[in-house]
Amino acid sequence: MTFGPIPDITLADGNRIPQIGLGVLRIDDEQTTPVVESAIDAGYRHIDTAAGYNNEGGVGKALEHSGYATGERRKDIWVTTKLRDSEQGYDSALRAFDRQIGLLRTDYVDMYMIHWPTPFDWRSDETWHAFVRLRDEGRVRTLGVCNFLPENLERLHGETGEYPSVNQIELHPTWQQREVVDYCRAHGIAVEAYSPMARGADLDAGDGVIGRIAEAHGVSHAQVILRWHIENGTIIIPKSTHRERQVENASLFGFALTAEEHAAIDALDGPVRAGHDPRTFSYS
Ligand SMILES: NC(=O)c1ccc[n+]([C@@H]2O[C@H](COP(=O)([O-])OP(=O)(O)OC[C@H]3O[C@@H](n4cnc5c(N)ncnc54)[C@H](OP(=O)(O)O)[C@@H]3O)[C@@H](O)[C@H]2O)c1
Repeated sequence: MTFGPIPDITLADGNRIPQIGLGVLRIDDEQTTPVVESAIDAGYRHIDTAAGYNNEGGVGKALEHSGYATGERRKDIWVTTKLRDSEQGYDSALRAFDRQIGLLRTDYVDMYMIHWPTPFDWRSDETWHAFVRLRDEGRVRTLGVCNFLPENLERLHGETGEYPSVNQIELHPTWQQREVVDYCRAHGIAVEAYSPMARGADLDAGDGVIGRIAEAHGVSHAQVILRWHIENGTIIIPKSTHRERQVENASLFGFALTAEEHAAIDALDGPVRAGHDPRTFSYS
């Protein structure tokens, strides 16, 4: 199975994001540099980090070493980062961005995201105004959010007149959040799946279903799940520190699920999330 080519998804703001990126959650700052360098060398052109991952410095070093931080090649890579919840607010978001862009060693970020909606301490309206300023200044290209439920998206739209271009949410075969996905699609918001394999827990989901489909196509369990996301039009950011898995996770274009196989994965939806509840969680 060969790597890519990875298609782009065109966002509501006109920007084009590679449909597959590398996630770097739970990799320490020092280890992040070789992991991101390996992914870029393999052909990844989309990296997903966050202030809260404490590894933007490691990403920045990898961008610089590989020649993608500035200059002609900068436009060939998509870099996403996210604001810490504790730094939401107008002035604090602008200050945080200055620090983050310094760590990333680049002049602009492709996508800046509100990390959690924190509805119990709602400051997404003020934060959004800061994000708009950064976009106007050319320091951010696309504005996004993570973990927003339809009620949070409605509120943000009511207060700012805008929907984000992307909503990054927990999404995998056993947690499909159809209500959130349908709302996003109806409002032109691209859906980006985090924990696309439920951090590995979905690799054997469905009493052997994933394994049987994998065997039929001669691919891995991970490739079956990630291919299902791709066929749904979802942006994915699987994380791996291993070069061979990074390659595997972006080698999804030499096979297709049959309608029955796709429907069998649709049927794995369940009531248990792998991560946190956006109604109550804050990643400070
Ligand atoms: N916005 C948010 O609130 C939020 C929350 C969570 C995550 N995220 C983003 O989403 C990214 C991905 O989510 P995630 O890291 O939680 O989970 P994930 O990508 O579903 O799973 C990662 C786990 O699967 C393993 N793995 C990767 N490829 C594999 C393969 N081909 N075969 C077998 N195992 C494989 C990895 O191990 P190895 O590394 O050892 O290969 C790791 O343990 C994060 O890195 C982060 O960027 C965002």
